[in-house]
Amino acid sequence: MDNVESLLEELTNAHGPSGFEGPVRAIMQRELSGLCDGLDTDGIGSLIGRLGEDGGSPRVMLAAHMDEVGLMVKLITKEGYVMFLPLGGWLDQALINQRWVIMTRNGPVLGVTGVKTPHVMTAEARGQLFKREQMFIDVGASSKEDAEERLAIRPGDPIAPDSRFTQLNGGALYLGKAWDDRVGLAVIVEVMRRLRESPPPNTLYGVATVQEEVGLRGAHTSSFAVEPDLGINLESGVASDYPGISQEEAQEKVGSGPAIFLHDSSMLPSLKLRDLFVDTARENDIPVQFDVLSGYGEDGAEMQRTHKGAPSINIAVPTRYLHSHNGIISREDFDRTVDLVEAVIRKLDADTVRELKSFD
Ligand code: CO
Repeated sequence: MDNVESLLEELTNAHGPSGFEGPVRAIMQRELSGLCDGLDTDGIGSLIGRLGEDGGSPRVMLAAHMDEVGLMVKLITKEGYVMFLPLGGWLDQALINQRWVIMTRNGPVLGVTGVKTPHVMTAEARGQLFKREQMFIDVGASSKEDAEERLAIRPGDPIAPDSRFTQLNGGALYLGKAWDDRVGLAVIVEVMRRLRESPPPNTLYGVATVQEEVGLRGAHTSSFAVEPDLGINLESGVASDYPGISQEEAQEKVGSGPAIFLHDSSMLPSLKLRDLFVDTARENDIPVQFDVLSGYGEDGAEMQRTHKGAPSINIAVPTRYLHSHNGIISREDFDRTVDLVEAVIRKLDADTVRELKSFD
């Protein structure tokens, strides 16, 4: 296991649902503090690292979000079961019979979403889908008081999926939760590590945002703080290389290189930036893919429309099974994404950014 793999493992294992990104922020703070000339937070917890002169230009913002999809404690029943609501977009069926960590003020509490045993069901009932409203988390408490006093669970406590990083069967694929968007954070760290050695012709802001999964909220506030000339968002992409998903829905394949988003429901990227990424990939023999999605939404949208607006793009590491306990990425795709983003940032001098921003 090399340093990059350890960082990916640490980031993906960390618990940090939307609004409760503390453990992830601590990792990013540790990593970025040695690589940046300035490190600050916005008012809701996004971490902003600056490489280069304060007040320098052009200002390039590289962003990825720290939060993962999770749940929140709604109430505890008198028998001691935890009822919850979702933070971010879950498929109801992905919630059933999984392990979770409730992040209480006294530390983590393990729980499981119970599922009714098939032994008592009619054939018809067995074929039905379970609805989120029927679900609960079993923490092994004997009563409401036991859950509240011994386990320190309170309404409002965040709940994170519990799933550990694994190198999938010794290959170059990594299995884990929350690649969305811990993989983007690791790209920021590795890009800034390389640029620290020989700085780019711009002031680069590496931003780890909060609350993306509940509406791009940290990207909104941090874009105001940075006021970028140009935005590059790093995300986990939508692979469509497994049974039951078609090219009509998404176009990325795991192992075929970084993806450039051309459409999602939150943003239309700058085509000048698309072409800069494609040309730079060709020059460096990096394979790239395109993705045109009808749904999705990402922090690039907030960078794009902050202040007077800034050309922006979303670059993604292809990922299978987003928003669940077990996703898959490829190490090769990760490394190629770092190569590509680094190469593009090295080109972003004042003239190039002026041209990218111009409509002449
Ligand atoms: Co995401």
